[in-house]
Formats: sequence, C-alpha cells, structure tokens
Amino acid sequence: ASSSKFASKIEPKRRYDILYGNLNRLPKKVRFFVEENAKVCQPDAIHICDGSDKEKELLYYMLQRDGAIKPLRKYENCWLATTDPADVARVESQEKHDTVPRIKDGVKGTLANWMSPEDMETALDSRFPGCMRGRTMYVIPFSMGPVGSPLSKIGIEITDSAYVVASMKIMTRMGQNVLDTLKDGDFIKCLHSVGQPVTGTAPTGSKYAWPCNPKDVLVAHLPERNEICSYGSGYGGNSLLGKKCFALRIGSILARREGWLAEHMLIMGVENPQGEKKYFAAAFPSACGKTNLAMMEPSLPGYKVTCVGDDIAWMRFDKNGQLRAINPEAGFFGVAPGTSMKTNPNAMRTIQKNTVFTNVGATSDGGVYWEGMDEEMPDNVSTTSWLGVEDWRKETGKPAAHPNSRFCTPADQCPIIDDQWESPEGVPIEGIIFGGRRPEGVPLVYESFDWNHGVFLGAALKSEATAAAEHKGKVVMHDPFAMRPFFGYNFGHYLDHWLSFQDNDKLKLPKVFHVNWFRKGPSGFLWPGFGENSRVLDWIFRRVNGEDCAMKSAVGLVPTPDSIDLSGLKDKVDMEELFRLPKDFWKMEVEELNKYFEEQVGEDLPAKIRQELKKLEQRVESD
Ligand code: PEP
Ligand code: NA
Ligand code: MN
Repeated sequence: ASSSKFASKIEPKRRYDILYGNLNRLPKKVRFFVEENAKVCQPDAIHICDGSDKEKELLYYMLQRDGAIKPLRKYENCWLATTDPADVARVESQEKHDTVPRIKDGVKGTLANWMSPEDMETALDSRFPGCMRGRTMYVIPFSMGPVGSPLSKIGIEITDSAYVVASMKIMTRMGQNVLDTLKDGDFIKCLHSVGQPVTGTAPTGSKYAWPCNPKDVLVAHLPERNEICSYGSGYGGNSLLGKKCFALRIGSILARREGWLAEHMLIMGVENPQGEKKYFAAAFPSACGKTNLAMMEPSLPGYKVTCVGDDIAWMRFDKNGQLRAINPEAGFFGVAPGTSMKTNPNAMRTIQKNTVFTNVGATSDGGVYWEGMDEEMPDNVSTTSWLGVEDWRKETGKPAAHPNSRFCTPADQCPIIDDQWESPEGVPIEGIIFGGRRPEGVPLVYESFDWNHGVFLGAALKSEATAAAEHKGKVVMHDPFAMRPFFGYNFGHYLDHWLSFQDNDKLKLPKVFHVNWFRKGPSGFLWPGFGENSRVLDWIFRRVNGEDCAMKSAVGLVPTPDSIDLSGLKDKVDMEELFRLPKDFWKMEVEELNKYFEEQVGEDLPAKIRQELKKLEQRVESD
C-alpha cells in the first residue's frame, strides 16, 4: 500500500550517504518512514541520532563551523544562535480535519484553522519534494515523558536542521534508548525542513547563517495519520515538533481518545511549613509569568516550591481515581526578556551552563544580555544586539534582544527541580489553577463552586496581551485554557471531554482556582506578585485541605476576611480593592462571554457551559 502523502512524481532516487548511524538497525517502521521521506526530500546524507555525547560535540562543532552558533565564553558550554529576523515566532497551524467549532457563516473563527484535504495535499506537495537537497537529514528518536513511562509517547523527527537536533537533545529524551524501547511499536511521525535546499556548490542566498523560507511557512497536523509536517521555519515552536505540535496539538487528540488530558500547564510542588506537600497544575496564556511561577521562591517563611515543568502537563486519573501528571519535556524553552534575579532567580541559575540562547544580545565579555535582566554592565563591556548592531545602546529605543528571544536549557539543572519530576507514574495533582493578566475587575484569587464551574473558568480564560501590530495598545483577548493556539480538535468537544470527568464518581476531581496577579489601581499593580504569590498558594493549599476560609461571591468562592496571610509584607495592600466585584464590569463580562461563545463555539458549546454562564449572570444580577 502506498502511504505517501505526496501525490506528484518524485524524481528517481538520488544517492545519499549514511553519515552517522546504521539504517539497517532501525526498527522496520522507522526505517520505512526514513526511506520514504529520504526519497521525497532528497537529502545528500542521513544522520541517525544516538543521543551520545560524541554526537553532541559533533553537532556543536558543525553549527559553530557554519556560523550558526557562537560560544558564550562567560559560561560553561553555552551558545548563541541568531535567526533570520523573519523567523522569530510561532505561526498559526493548519489542521486537516474536524477541528473547527460549527459557527455562523461569515464569522472568522479564532479557535482553529481548517484546510481541505485537497488544499493540504497541494500545500505539502509543493514544498517537500527535493527540499533537503544539499543538506543532511537527521533522524531523531525522542520520547515525550520519561523513557518507558506508561504515560510517555514516542516520536521520530526527521529534520534538516542541526539546530533542531541540538535543541531536541535538550528539550526531550532522545537517542538509541528510545529506539530500544519503541521496538516495532507505533510512533508520531514528525517531518521538518527549513525549506532552503542548497542548490549551488556554496551556500547561497540569505546573509543569515539561519536557513529558512518565511514566505512558504506551513505547520500542519494530520492526526488521522499520526503525522506532523512543518516547513520553512527553524524557530522553536515551529520546528521542535515534540513540543507544541506533538505534546499539545496531537497530544490533545490522543488524550480525548484515550481518556486523559494534554494541557498547556506548568506543574509545581508546594510544601507547607509543616512539611506537607501538594502538587498543582496551572494554565496561563503567554506573558503571564508561567515559568516564573513554576520556579518561584516563596516569600512566606517555611514554604518550599519545587518545579516539575513550566509549559506542558500530561495528566491521567490512576486506578484509585487520583489525577497524576508528568512533564513530557526534559528542558525549558523560556522567553529571556524579563527574566532576572528578581523575577526568576532559579531560571537565572539554571541557564549558566549547557544552554542555547536564541536572539538575545551578546556582551563583549562573552555573556548574554536582554531587556529586564536587571544587571549593571561595567563601563568596559559593550553589547551587540540580536540583529548584530555592535556597541548597541538603550538610547536607540531598539531592544538588544528580540522580545521573543529564548533560552533552551536542561530541566535537571534547575536548582529547585522536584525530586519526583521524572517519576514514571506522575505526581498527584490536587488543584488546577487558571490565571490571566486582568487589569480590571477580576479578584486576586477565587475557587470554583464545583467541577463544571471550574471547566467554565477555563473556557472563559482571558488575558491582556501586547497585541500584534495591527492593534494599538493592549487588549484583553480570549485564550480558553491557555490553549487557543494549541487545540488539536473542536473546542466544543474539548469542553465535553473536560466535563465528562464529572460523571465518573470514582474520580477525585481536583479543586479549580482562578488567580490574577495583575489587577491595577490608580497607582499601578495592587498586588506585589512574584514570591509574594506564595500567600495565594498558601490559601489554595489550605482550601484543598478543607479549611473553612472561603465564602460565596458572585464569581466563586473568595477568601474570608484575613484568610490570606499578609504577615511580613513590606507594603500595605488594598485587599478591599483587590477583591471588589464591580457590578457593571461583571455584567459586561457576562455579555462579552456570551457573544464570544455564540460567535466562536456556536452550536458546539456544551449546555453545561451555557448554564454556568447563565448562573453567573444571575449571581451578578442579584449581588
Ligand atoms: C514557542 O513558541 O516555542 C513556545 C514555547 O511558546 P510559548 O512560550 O508561548 O509557550
Ligand atoms: Na512564541
Ligand atoms: Mn507555552
């Protein structure tokens, strides 16, 4: 049976050298996948990754030789890559199947992008044939989750980017042991090309040592074939296919089918002064400080936070009805700007070695620099911006680092990594936290009345984002479950899946919370944030333990007076204002949510979510 997704005639097989590894030793299905794509993409050579240190050295040597990375001599084994300025962020993905909620004609859907099977075929067919000419095709066997864990899944990524291989080595468990575990099993097929074949004898074209093809970028998911195809971009979210594409988009589809959850959530351990420990999972849209919270240093004496993951949680109820989570990743791919010893000291300590930085500024003493790093630069040290401007100065108004510049660093280097972070059965989750950047009206913390109300809180999640260029200023945007760019299937069905757990009385459903660190008063933020957020975690911890410290309000269960521990806080906090529920604001919020659900989810909105909105409306009205 021909299973090629490429319809057009492929030129007769070209010869390729096996540079590294042995094609004959691959499991049969993997070998077939590699040969099939080698035929289409026509690389000059193939490198089968084993994940060894020798391989790592070879890769960094080649990347450096080709000018793609530079060593950062101030640190140990740290590197700087700069991209083509047209390839710096994720693109919206294309889905070829039933992903889009049924909404009215003429409304632009924001929850998924659908492409007809014919258009998808044409789109792939016009890109991949011959795309790796003159390049090496790397074969990366990787495991999302600890190798061999019952919660883990295996993928094989084929790519023509050595930067991707180096990054996948940090972000996933990759190499020969994954193939040994896979044997003849199935895997997620990931195909990636930067889309810039080398056609002449010397590298041509771009002045950047960063091959890409921005005008033809395509990130596509073919869930019915367990395939991901990504073309034209080398940027993390588009090219490290284990992350957003597999662990979230394909993952959410598998999760629904198999009865679990693949979510855009951090996982953290919290230990109270009595030594009792609980784990929480938390979803926040971009730019809310998810990585900071995952690695926070609590200001409340006696509390201890440990990090399991900062971006993705795979969660499943075990046979005792306990929800358990693993972090499918092995590294952090974090936004650099804004990271400092004040905002995230543990991230700063993590990135001192074995880290690949992308699009940050470089200092003349071999270090890195970005906006909000909060470090004094000695007079004799100058900075080169991510765009290569030497002797960069703040006064130019242009940033030294791209706002979406990143660090890619091994998770096990984090000084507060949880001792159970690689536990094959996952850590027990006792609370789920949603949060957004809400300057107005939304209290510091509240708890849902029950599971269905909790699902509603996730569905209604919004956050202030510094909008794309076409908008002016900051706008509050919908980002349900912080998953808007990552839903692998119809969001209405996703809500049905979350709601379905309510019907199984064997499950211990975790409590659900909503937090907002970002409410503003006349003179700025009302809440100090960062380590002081431990005061909110303390309240959540006590609620999970059944303490009577909450009372009903229109929006949910809020802390009783004085139940948030403010002892030792330096500046006085206006708690009344932090928890005020302005009636006009909430009436507008209900109206706006109603419009959003009608327009974007339409007839696929579960009745239970509609009921929750109705109940909120009634509570606001009678408040
Ligand atoms: C990414 O774009 O690769 C990424 C990790 O995105 P985010 O930080 O927004 O989750
Ligand atoms: Na991004
Ligand atoms: Mn993320």
